[in-house]
Amino acid sequence: MIPHVLPTYNRAPLAFERGEGSWAVTADGTRYLDLGAGIAVNVLGHANPDLVAALTEQAGRIWHVSNLYQIPEQERLADLLVEHTFADTVFFTNSGTEAAELAIKMVRKHWDHAGDPERIEIVTFGGAFHGRSTGAIAAAGSDKMTKGFGPLMPGFRTLPFGDHAALEAAVTDRTAAIMVEPVQGEGGIRVLPDACLKGLRDLCDRTGALLVLDEVQCGMGRTGRLFAHEHAGIAPDIMMVAKGIGGGFPLGAVLATEAAAAGMVAGTHGSTYGGNPLACAVGARVMQIVADPAFLAEVNRKAALFRQRLEGLVAGHPDVFESVRGQGLMLGLKCRVAPVDLVRAAYDQHLLTVPAADDTLRLLPPLNITDEDIAEAVARLDRAAASLAA
Ligand SMILES: Cc1ncc(COP(=O)(O)O)c(C=O)c1O
Repeated sequence: MIPHVLPTYNRAPLAFERGEGSWAVTADGTRYLDLGAGIAVNVLGHANPDLVAALTEQAGRIWHVSNLYQIPEQERLADLLVEHTFADTVFFTNSGTEAAELAIKMVRKHWDHAGDPERIEIVTFGGAFHGRSTGAIAAAGSDKMTKGFGPLMPGFRTLPFGDHAALEAAVTDRTAAIMVEPVQGEGGIRVLPDACLKGLRDLCDRTGALLVLDEVQCGMGRTGRLFAHEHAGIAPDIMMVAKGIGGGFPLGAVLATEAAAAGMVAGTHGSTYGGNPLACAVGARVMQIVADPAFLAEVNRKAALFRQRLEGLVAGHPDVFESVRGQGLMLGLKCRVAPVDLVRAAYDQHLLTVPAADDTLRLLPPLNITDEDIAEAVARLDRAAASLAA
């Protein structure tokens, strides 16, 4: 008989009742060190007092108002995002997938508004992940996600990751946009080098194509800058954000320049819940904390410490690990064993990690993880790797 919850996940036999900082706790009080953070969501850890206060204060005032009315909490968060980024305007969603959908719609509307409605092709890359809607799976194009869900939405061309010649040949003055994650998450913590991101910006400038960055997983301080593209000193035309921006409350956003968003006038898009006061009250508090240069400096210090320890771990287990990859606290261990085996061995050490493609184990801790918890995490990974080697 089919389970009451649709069985689209292979779930671990683990349920958490509460959380404290970087720890998730089961009903019997067993504490797991959480290096998954809900897949890069709980940027400030579990039950963060500042976020609990922001949420409960708002919950005592008003939970939900339609976007038919002014929503001051939404405007405050939009102001913060515009102040700290390239963007002129923001639309709020409930998830990364919805942000991807709007980004795709915005690209199409942009060219329609410019009098060129046939300019619809969006170039994407192998290993990409943009969500699970029909548009987002078509954009990523992998068999795993699209099989059985056809016919797919047209208008995407997926190029092999890192194939510069294919890119130069594919992107022309008929290309509507290039859509890319500065650091692939699901694809295996594959960092797009700064030079490549600059190259994509140049290519877009030359051809007029819009540059759409998916920072759903790598944004919100994860890589040590507020947004990952800042490392390359470039700016996109459109950017998708989600996960970390809500610190665990469902929230996403599409950020855009005024020029990219041309055509997105009243009636062209909407959402019942997107930009809900509860989500935006929490999001504004997350932004105030994470965008603080002192907070980001700490992320970078901890990332250097974590990475150095992980290099030692890899050197100590050459049969299990191949290398460390990633940027900031978006870290990956390229494995010589199946990452899911390591994830299971880590469960035995009461440590939560996340598998990814390209034989990579993902480590996405809360950005405020302590130095002691970093040391503890590496000790537990060490024991997990030793148990596999044995
Ligand atoms: C880069 C990227 N884009 C989009 C998504 C989809 O976000 P959501 O699961 O919130 O719909 C994800 C989720 O993992 C992601 O990592």
